[in-house]
Parts: sequence; C-alpha cells; structure tokens
Amino acid sequence: MGSIAIIGAQWGDEGKGKIVHLLTENADVICRYQGGNNAGHTVVAGGKKYVLHLIPSGILKEGKICIIGNGLVVNPYALQDEIDLLKTLGIECGSRLFISDRASLIMPYHIELDHAYEESLGIGTTKRGIGPAYSYKYARMGLRPCDLEEEDYVKTTVGTVLDEVNATLVNRFGRNPLDLSRVLEDIRAYRDILKPFVTDTSLLLNRCINEGKNVIFEGAQGILLDIDFGTYPYVTSSNPSTGGICTGLGISPKSIGRVLGVLKAYTTRVGEGPFPTELEDKTGEFIRKKGGEFGASTGRPRRCGWFDAVAARHALRTAGIEELAMTKLDVLDGLEKIRVCTQYQVDGQRTDEFPANVAVLARVEPVYEEHEGWDNLGGVKNYKDLSKSAHRYIDRIEDLLGVRVAIVSTGSDEKETIQRTNLWD
Ligand code: IMP
Repeated sequence: MGSIAIIGAQWGDEGKGKIVHLLTENADVICRYQGGNNAGHTVVAGGKKYVLHLIPSGILKEGKICIIGNGLVVNPYALQDEIDLLKTLGIECGSRLFISDRASLIMPYHIELDHAYEESLGIGTTKRGIGPAYSYKYARMGLRPCDLEEEDYVKTTVGTVLDEVNATLVNRFGRNPLDLSRVLEDIRAYRDILKPFVTDTSLLLNRCINEGKNVIFEGAQGILLDIDFGTYPYVTSSNPSTGGICTGLGISPKSIGRVLGVLKAYTTRVGEGPFPTELEDKTGEFIRKKGGEFGASTGRPRRCGWFDAVAARHALRTAGIEELAMTKLDVLDGLEKIRVCTQYQVDGQRTDEFPANVAVLARVEPVYEEHEGWDNLGGVKNYKDLSKSAHRYIDRIEDLLGVRVAIVSTGSDEKETIQRTNLWD
C-alpha cells in the first residue's frame, strides 16, 4: 500500500485511463501532475464509455479525492464542460475535486498563439493552448488561480502580457489583436468557475500521504512526448515522466512508491514527428481500425506501427519504470506474423539506444524479429488462457525490456484485464 505512478511509456494513448480506473478501486486520492486538456483518458465501465481530458479519471469512482496539481495548465472553460458532463452522469465533483492555487491558467490568447505557431512549426499540437501556456509560465508571464482575487495585480499583469501577445499576433502572424476588456471578462468568468475548487493542493496531498492514504499519480501523454526525453521538438511542453510528479504536485520523491509504465502491444503516435516502426500499409490500417485508433481529444487518426523495444527501453530507463501494463493485446488478433523492433540500424551501425536528435531518428531503420500471431484473445481474463504465441510475445518483450508485465489488457472494458500481480500489495 502507498502510491502508484501510472506513466505512459510510448507516445501517449497507451490506455492509461483504463489502468488508472482499475487501480482506483483501492486508491483514496488520484492526482494529475502535468499537461492539461490535451489529454484524452478513455474509460469503459459498466458498458459505457467516458472520455476525460483534465479531471483525473478517478472521479468516476465514488468518494475518491481528485487533485489537479500545480504542474498543470488549466483551461477553466474546458473544466466547466467536463464538470457539466459528469453532472449529467450523476457524478458531482463539488466536494472531492481540488485544483492547485499554483497551477497555470490557459488564457484565450494562448489558444490563439497555439493556432498561429502551429501554422509555421507544424508540430501537430492539439491546438488547446498547451505549449504557449507553459512558455508564458516559464517566461514569468503566466497567471495562476491564486492571482484571480487580486484585481489590480491581474489588470497590470494581463495588460503587460497582452502588449507582448498582440505584438506577436499582429507583427509576426498578421492576425487581429486581442482586446484587454474581453480578456478581463474571461478572467472574471475563470475566477467564478475555479473558486469552489482552488486550494493549496501540495498541503492537502502531503496531509493525505502522511495519513497513509493510497495515492495514484496519473500521467498524461507519454515519455516519448516528454519535453526533455521525448522526440523534441515533436513533443508536448511538460514532463509526463516520473520527475514531473514531484514538481507538479509539491511532494517528496520518497512519496512515489511503485512506478508502473503503460504501453500497447504495438505502437501509435498522433501528430507529426519521426516514428521508426510506423506501418503505412494495410497492416497499419488493420491496427487502426481494429484498435479504434483515433485521437480521444481531437479525433485525428493515429499513426500505427510495430512494438519498438528501443524506444520503450529509453522510456523505461528515463522514467525509472519497474513494472508494466501491456494494453490492447487483442487488437493484434488475426495477424499471421507480428514484428518487434529490437534494435536500430543507423548510418551503417546497429544501436540499442534511442537517438536524441529527430533528424537521426528519422533515418533509423528498425531491426525486426518476427513472431507467430494469435487469435481470439479478446476478453481473456486469466494469463494461462492466452495462447502459447501470446505468452512467447510477452516473455520476449519482458526479456528485451528487463521489466515484468504485471497487467495485460485484452479489451476496453475494465473486466477484460489480466492482473498477474496485485500492485497494491
Ligand atoms: P500539445 O500537447 O497540444 O502541445 O501537442 C504536442 C504533441 O503532443 C502533438 O504531437 C500532440 O498530438 C501530442 N499529444 C498531446 N497530448 C496527447 C495525448 O494525450 N495523447 C497523444 N498525443 C498527445
């Protein structure tokens, strides 16, 4: 008992929402520590599908405390939409959702800037203002929930920042300037939306930890999208990796217990950037259709490819992942042969390491080994009931990564899961 960090070990969309939901049964507190409403955590429970973008998936289970930490960028309008949606499902956030007074606010001009920069940079962002909100935070031009009651402070700060923003919008992108009074109106609306939820969440969470409550740290995106360890610049602007937990919540590294990585039995990526094992053929199309690989946030088709052990090893090492959940094994049902990338060949040499530079990554050739396929794994609940070829596939991936697969998911419903270890023990 203690805490479990649940971290995406690929390019996001690994199925973290389902795993969080599963482990929430024994948790008291579920916290997000980075990102914003660029995430899309899909949970299928009781035959219904829920997609959450900002509020931790734990909110779906009654009585659980949910925290949005200081490391997030928060769009209060998106938050309100999610609260309203949950209400229609009979879920009240009121007494159990807490938002850090030190989180960063996504302002309307961050969204405008995200659209503008996307036209020239072509990162393939979600256009939700995530990158600009983090940029302005680090440039010390951000606004936080704790600022909103201080009207003079807000007016002066936003006035200065808007001069900067408008100079960029008008001079750099030929767009229309934003009006200060409109922005101040948005800020008043932000204050009203956030007021019931804002608190010092570091204080709250440390109290919970000291009382011995079980905590889940819910990562968003994945390590290959990490601003430091991902495929820069084709990354998000935060640290989905384990390091983001301490800074994004204000807790001690000693409070992080188990570190569980989540990865698919294959690989997907949304947006631009190199993807060595990408399949731009009918097998890729088969995986996309069968796996429903369309972005939960933007609906964009996801790029699909074989499992990449080089990328996964890099993710596991940089995030200190000690156990794995492998999702969507059943999606590969029906394929005669399944490939796994074990090494890269680049500039005439074989390597086990993931290159830092994207131009190098774009020219690597995956070195594959081939495995027998399988059929009919959908919904299997016991490890022994998986086929021999599926056992061999999992054993081989454990071998290549040096980490045990503790959970195997064979379908989207929470019941369609094999738990080889009780992670709360
Ligand atoms: P941003 O986070 O909107 O700035 O987008 C930066 C990159 O991260 C783009 O390639 C997005 O497609 C990707 N991205 C952001 N959030 C997610 C996610 O939750 N799943 C998968 N990809 C994501």
